[in-house]
Amino acid sequence: MKKAKENKSLIRIGVSIPSDLIRVFDKYRRKRQYNNRSEAIRDLIREKLVEQEWEKEIQGQEVIAIITYVYDHHQRELVGSIIDIQHDSPNNVIVSQHVHLDHHNCLEVVIVHGEPDGLHNLANKLKSLRGVKHCQLTMTTTGISIS
Ligand code: NI
Repeated sequence: MKKAKENKSLIRIGVSIPSDLIRVFDKYRRKRQYNNRSEAIRDLIREKLVEQEWEKEIQGQEVIAIITYVYDHHQRELVGSIIDIQHDSPNNVIVSQHVHLDHHNCLEVVIVHGEPDGLHNLANKLKSLRGVKHCQLTMTTTGISIS
């Protein structure tokens, strides 16, 4: 069989980015010692793709994860909705911790376990609530596969 030719040629692409986003990105890039935007963008793309690959590998397996979100507790009916969502997934939620950040904002950290798809659904439900400002799902191994 003929060996596939390795393609390392560079392709230039044009991307439109809002000016305030590129300002924040440039700050990020300088802080991480990137001399140009291209390499910083390439690394971000690689990071995301590796993450996706890993998620494909662990599909169907039990994982443990942390869902972190910040929300305004003055938002009408939001606290009730958050509690309802957690109660609808009693087999996933292990523990949740609440921190009152300031007059308006609360931080919650929920430790969950289960299959990646189910945990994504749970995090997406929380993320889509009006008043939830930031929501992040971080998955890791249960430790069984680490020797
Ligand atoms: Ni609070």
